[in-house]
Amino acid sequence: MKRDYLSVADLTREEIELVFRLSLEMKEELERGRGKREDLSGRLFALIFEKPSLRTRVTFEGGIKQMGGDTIYLAPQDIQLGKREAVKDVARNLNRWVDGVVARVFSHDSLVEMAENMDVPVVNALSDLEHPCQALADYLTIFEKAGRVDVNLVFVGDGNNVANSLMLLTAILGGNFTIACPEGYEPTAQIIERAKEIAEKTGASIEVVRSPQEAVKKADFIYTDVWASMGQEAEAEVRNRIFRPYQVNSELLSHAPSHALVMHCLPARRGLEITDEVLDGERSIVLDQAENRLHAQKGLLKFIYQ
Ligand code: CP
Ligand code: NVA
Repeated sequence: MKRDYLSVADLTREEIELVFRLSLEMKEELERGRGKREDLSGRLFALIFEKPSLRTRVTFEGGIKQMGGDTIYLAPQDIQLGKREAVKDVARNLNRWVDGVVARVFSHDSLVEMAENMDVPVVNALSDLEHPCQALADYLTIFEKAGRVDVNLVFVGDGNNVANSLMLLTAILGGNFTIACPEGYEPTAQIIERAKEIAEKTGASIEVVRSPQEAVKKADFIYTDVWASMGQEAEAEVRNRIFRPYQVNSELLSHAPSHALVMHCLPARRGLEITDEVLDGERSIVLDQAENRLHAQKGLLKFIYQ
């Protein structure tokens, strides 16, 4: 059976642990200068991007090539998914040529439609609903820093795609997820419901609160992301006003335990959701997260194609 990775919840806890083990093995090999593997030899991947990217594109292209595979990057103007050609038709054509698709899309429904119309795996490289590869890399980073995954993760800001995926992954891994956000900017209702259902079985906790100062009091990790995601540019001005009390700055950190580390998926809007001082400060682990995108995605691909 082919394995897609559209949502964090497409892997079980045991499978996530296996992906982390594979990721760390390949990370170590790369660090020792034995980076070239042949796990994806002869395999061709289509990288469909409806939105810009630095980290996701470089780490997927780089990772696939390090594993002996090859990639074709399809920029927004190349396919015009659903405009020049129906999503279903794009999927059915690509299915005849490639061994997998990595896609960054505006609508999560496009990913679901692609997966339904392809026999090869489809991996979510960010949609409006989720950013599962980001969450996977972030928890790999948390594991490296804390030695465990059942930590207190406090997300401050917009209940967006990244928040959705982190919340779901926390539920699966049995930790505590708190989001401090303004009213009306909570994570997606169905994902909260799903996360709470999973949490009941795993012992995780999921909380939505308003006060960032209260929320960070027990934080092991404090996470933030942009206030206006790609596609929400028209709302940026309004959002910048509403989210101002949610900036991750030195004052907010003074309410957190001294061991709490700061995370951001990047790109950051310096001076908005996070200050220069915090982003560049000693407690920031944002570049470790960015590096782990490479290793986590390689682990995921190894798991999918093994
Ligand atoms: N974090 C992340 O997905 O970055 P890019 O948008 O640059 O790929
Ligand atoms: N929430 C952001 C994440 C970017 C990596 C966005 O969707 O634009």
